[in-house]
Amino acid sequence: MAPSIMRLALAVGVAILSHPVQAVQEYILEKTYDVNNFFDEFTFIDTTDLSHGYVTYVDQQTATTDKIANITGNTVYLGVDSTTKLHWPTDSGRKSVRIEGHDEYSQGLFVASFAHFPKPACGAWPAFWMYGPDWPNSGEIDIYESWNEATFNEITFHSSTSSTCELQADPSKFTGTIQTSNCNNAAANYVTQYPGQGCVTEEIGASSTSPFGNDQGGIYAVEFTADYIKIWSWTHGAAPADINSAHPDPSGWGLPRAYLKPALCF
Ligand SMILES: *[C@@H]1O[C@H](CO)[C@@H](O)[C@H](O)[C@H]1NC(C)=O
Repeated sequence: MAPSIMRLALAVGVAILSHPVQAVQEYILEKTYDVNNFFDEFTFIDTTDLSHGYVTYVDQQTATTDKIANITGNTVYLGVDSTTKLHWPTDSGRKSVRIEGHDEYSQGLFVASFAHFPKPACGAWPAFWMYGPDWPNSGEIDIYESWNEATFNEITFHSSTSSTCELQADPSKFTGTIQTSNCNNAAANYVTQYPGQGCVTEEIGASSTSPFGNDQGGIYAVEFTADYIKIWSWTHGAAPADINSAHPDPSGWGLPRAYLKPALCF
């Protein structure tokens, strides 16, 4: 099943808009996460990395002392310890942060504005994602995720092992490139899809339009309705004019990079 309740994980400058039921539907701003409330709204998760990375997720106090997370001017800064020389496997993993939002959402329009993205580099694994309760069983949406020197974003939907959720492979619906189409976490043939991979749409970075890996950052938007999930991204200059308005209208934003029709999940 597609996720029904989602939490935000690792988000910078995120605006949440909800879709009221009324004759003329339009999104209205429900909540903004920015320098005024960011660290009150997200909790530092300093447990073991479930993905087995060579990382030590630190608590807020350590992150603050080590300047791995802070408010700098009008921007939330989230980073890693970039100076300590580590000797694997004797030293524990590189200090970094994983944070998780307190609020839960079932549907909505989520717009996240980033001032910077890390350059693809060996050992890097930046991610901005949402997930349902009882992870990983109730699903996950990876909006921004890639690792090492990959030059593309892997926009990924993971659904429960009992679903047959698939990406809609209709090129008229989105601009990304399908890498795997079966969202079921258990789907694996060990040739084109490994266990837990989910359905992946590639957003090729370093193109004139993609902000992936761009040191100037960019904007990612997720529209999550009962009928579909769409994900867009833009460099700052190229975002739609209404992206920061009181009533942004995704119907005018053109094709998303990735598209999932949850109806196919059941
Ligand atoms: C936040 O952390 C960055 C990176 O360590 C550092 O350059 C900056 O000075 C810090 N800002 C504040 C206000 O402490």
